[in-house]
Order: sequence, then C-alpha cells, then structure tokens
Amino acid sequence: MNTHITTLRCTLCGHEDDPRTHDHACTKCGGIHEALFDYDAVRPLLTRDTLKADPRRDVRRYLPLLPVDANGPMTPLPVGGTPLTELPAVAQDLGVRRFWAKDDGRNPTGSFKDRASFVGVARAKAKGCAVIAAASTGNAATSVAGLAASMGLTSHIFVPASAPEAKVAQLLIYGAKVFLVDADYDATFDLCQKAVAHFGWYDRSAAVNPYLVEGKKTCGLELGEELAHDLPDWVAMSVGDGCSLAGTHKGLVELHTLGLIGRVPRMLAVQAEGAAPLTTAFQANTEQVLRIEAATCADSINVGMPRNPVKALRAVRASHGAFVNVSDQAILDWIPRLAQKSGVFAEPAAVTAVAGIEAAQHKGIIKPSETAVAVISGTGLKDIKNAMRTVSRPEPLAPSLEAVQQRVRNLD
Ligand SMILES: Cc1ncc(COP(=O)(O)O)c(C=O)c1O
Ligand SMILES: [Zn+2]
Repeated sequence: MNTHITTLRCTLCGHEDDPRTHDHACTKCGGIHEALFDYDAVRPLLTRDTLKADPRRDVRRYLPLLPVDANGPMTPLPVGGTPLTELPAVAQDLGVRRFWAKDDGRNPTGSFKDRASFVGVARAKAKGCAVIAAASTGNAATSVAGLAASMGLTSHIFVPASAPEAKVAQLLIYGAKVFLVDADYDATFDLCQKAVAHFGWYDRSAAVNPYLVEGKKTCGLELGEELAHDLPDWVAMSVGDGCSLAGTHKGLVELHTLGLIGRVPRMLAVQAEGAAPLTTAFQANTEQVLRIEAATCADSINVGMPRNPVKALRAVRASHGAFVNVSDQAILDWIPRLAQKSGVFAEPAAVTAVAGIEAAQHKGIIKPSETAVAVISGTGLKDIKNAMRTVSRPEPLAPSLEAVQQRVRNLD
C-alpha cells in the first residue's frame, strides 16, 4: 500500500513491525503501534496553499497523512468536514471567553467514528478482505456497518445487547451481521478479538489496528486548519477507550510539525464518574490502568477497561492537558442545555465533553479568559431514551383551537 508511513513502533516495547504488511498490534508484546510518517515527504503536499486550493471538504483533504492509498478504494460517502460553530451563548453559560462546537454527529452514520471507519474499510478493501469485524459500544459498529455497506464489504459486528435501539437499528438496516452479546463492552471486545483471530476477518478495532487512530486524526487536522489563526486554548473530548482523543491530538501535533499551526491546544479528557479508570490512572501518574465495573448512562463511554490507555494518557500529558470527571446528572442536564442554546443535539457521550468544560472551569483548570472547543462525537438521535429522560412529554391535545388556547395559557 502506497502511504507515507515509514515505521510502526510499539508504544509499549518499542519493537517495530513492517507497515507494508502489518495491520495489528505489536508482534512482540501485543502493545498498540504508533504509525510514524515521513513528514519531510508530506510537507510540500500539505501546505496552506495546497489546502486552500483543494475543493474537497472531507477527510480526503489530508490523504498524505492517512494510511490509505490515494489511488486505492475509498468510501464515496463524505466523511469529516463537519461544522465548527462558535456559540457565544454557550460560552457565557460555561464561563469561558469563547466556545465552539465541532458537530461530528453530522458524519454519514452520525458519529465521530466514521473518521476511523473511513480508514478501516479502505484498508480492508485494498487488502482484498471480504469481511471487516468490529466490537463497539455502538457507534464504531454502526459506522463500520454503514461505510462497509457503501463499499460492498460484509461487516460482522459485536455489540453489548444493551446498546441503544437506534444504534442496533442502524446496524441491521445497513445489513451488518450482528452479534448482540449478552455481556458488557469489555467482554464483548474480548469475544470479538477471539472471533477475529479464529476466522481471519479484518480487525477494525482502533485499540488493536494502529491505522484507525490515524483516521481519527482528521478531527484534529480539521480543527487546526480551521482555527489556525484563532487556536483554542482547550479541546475537550469525552473518553472511553481513549483512541478518539489520542487521534485528535495527533492531528494537531502533525499540523504543528508541518508548520501549519503555531502551537498545540491543551486536551481536556472527560470521563463519566462511573466509568473513569483513565482519570484515576492519570491522577496517579501511571500508565497502569485497573479494570473497573463501569456504569454510566453515556453508553458510548461506558468502558471499564480502556483498550488504548497509553496513547490517551500520553496525549493529555504531552499537551499539558487535564482529565476531569462529570456526573450522569450533569451529562443528562447538558443534553437540552446545549441543544436549547445552539440547536446542536448531542448523545450523552458527546455532550459529556461540554459538561467537562464546565467542570474544568469550576475547578479552575480552564480560566474564564480562555477558549475551548468541544467535539460533539455523536448525534442525539442515537439515544432517544436518555434524551427523553431530560424533558417532559406533553399530554396529547384535542384537535381544537380552544384546546390550544388553554395550553398556551398554561405554558408559562
Ligand atoms: C459518541 C462517542 N463519544 C465518545 C467516544 C469515546 O471514544 P474512545 O472510546 O475512542 O475514547 C465514543 C466511542 O465509542 C463515542 O461513540
Ligand atoms: Zn511491543
């Protein structure tokens, strides 16, 4: 495959595997690899001028920095290029100087995960694999199912049976072969890994396959490109396995390496109080993460055993960032609070990033004079059940003007 990757280096033991043949974890210790690029070769291909002249608005803008052959098969769906909107009313509510939401719910299947699946399906197809497999709390699964469908690939998907109905519906409608596992995400992940090893399917797990995190980078590349002259102090993201935050940070670092932004914003990693093993490890200054029994309403980050702890912890440290936890109540409260001040409807795990900015501001981690972006990682339509917990459904109305008049009188 023709890419600018020079080396795959293990994040744990430093062992190097061959990027031309290898799509897996380290052959020596099982740790996840870091893909290293030839930035000198990429530099002339990605400049302010080339980016300005590129009419594509999706992740293909950044192909020289992706592990995808520019002449190989790709989904025809437009992944990335999601709207970044400054929201002064939300900034005021959060107590920060400026605030932007990057609405990744506007991706083809409704979540940030399409960025990684863009890479997964392209590589699976280029390698001639007929089946791509994934274990997921829901969004990575629906994402790979949708993008696989767009390329005529078969997807085999493992999700906890408790995944929200909308996500399961997406899987089935996209035609995925769905394994609804009667266990939590952590056990579901382990089972998928066993099945991948047994059947030889292409593995779309971002915590094993080192290339998927490269797709996630495009969020950071877009943020940095768009805000190059107005770089935020903080980029807030919710964290489950940790791959999304690590990828976004890598994109920002690469833009800095290429001389396209002047500094790298600080990463604010946000976990739900009931599923915060990475916050615990960060605060203990260790990369040894202990498995916990995770319990949060934000299903996408209900992860007790993060599969990519090293990259996420290192990204937050390298950026002089911070970890914060937020309660389920704060997460639920922020669903209508954000939507009613912005028109952005986010799923629980996505609005967690916004709740995290508020928590960080209250703790003095983010100053009122600072600016922040929240990555809205999935649309609110993914989890209607939790959204409906935050509002009250009106009683049915008789079809008469009198009934409306009566209701209007009672509105305030
Ligand atoms: C909507 C949403 N937000 C955040 C995350 C967390 O991403 P990661 O597990 O890479 O930390 C996920 C992962 O499934 C997600 O679907
Ligand atoms: Zn290793």
